[in-house]
Amino acid sequence: MTVLVVSGTGTEIGKTVVTAAVAAAFQDRRVAVLKPAQTGLAPGEPGDAAEAARLAGAHVTAVELARFPEPLAPETAARRAGLPPVRPYEIAEAAQKLATEHDLVLVEGAGGLLVRYDGEGSTLADAARLLAAPVLIVAPAGLAGQGVSGRGRRDGTPARKSPGSCLVGRGAGVLGCASAMRNPFARSTGTVVDSADE
Ligand SMILES: Nc1ncnc2c1ncn2[C@@H]1O[C@H](COP(=O)(O)OP(=O)(O)O)[C@@H](O)[C@H]1O
Ligand SMILES: [Mg+2]
Repeated sequence: MTVLVVSGTGTEIGKTVVTAAVAAAFQDRRVAVLKPAQTGLAPGEPGDAAEAARLAGAHVTAVELARFPEPLAPETAARRAGLPPVRPYEIAEAAQKLATEHDLVLVEGAGGLLVRYDGEGSTLADAARLLAAPVLIVAPAGLAGQGVSGRGRRDGTPARKSPGSCLVGRGAGVLGCASAMRNPFARSTGTVVDSADE
């Protein structure tokens, strides 16, 4: 099973575009894009999963688990809409089911990685843990991005790897990527993104 969780440092940072770019790199494979909680859109409007599929190509299946109209964190948006929240185990189950019919499942989060999905404060990181899936973090390019990846030390030497995470700078390509991210793709499908020197 190959599931990749796509998160970021916030909203409007490029998660959907990066999800589409990864999906587009697998034109000859069955790819699913799962958006567990789509906030800020009314019924019928194209969501992030549909947008990623539109950008990447017809080989992509777009799936949404829930939609909440207000542009808020999933837990808040669900509560204010009077709808049940999306739980991490539901995200994991949906991704696992999609993985039985697809070669790659991309799960796009809402906002940043630690945004709340339910009243217990669960996050997309909990779903990633249940799935044992790597997390790709989309972040602004630049020096501050190293703080997100934990890659830079003050003396300029490379920081310790952050297993399972990958940092993509918007407009500047990939800044860093841990080996846990590289391996599953490198083995079966070729490397999706280049890794900076560790
Ligand atoms: N690498 C990029 N260069 C320029 N614009 C980008 C890039 N990535 C995303 N964008 C634009 O930034 C906006 C937010 O991107 P999006 O992928 O929807 O972010 P998110 O999913 O994190 O909310 C969109 O208008 C998108 O077209
Ligand atoms: Mg998005």
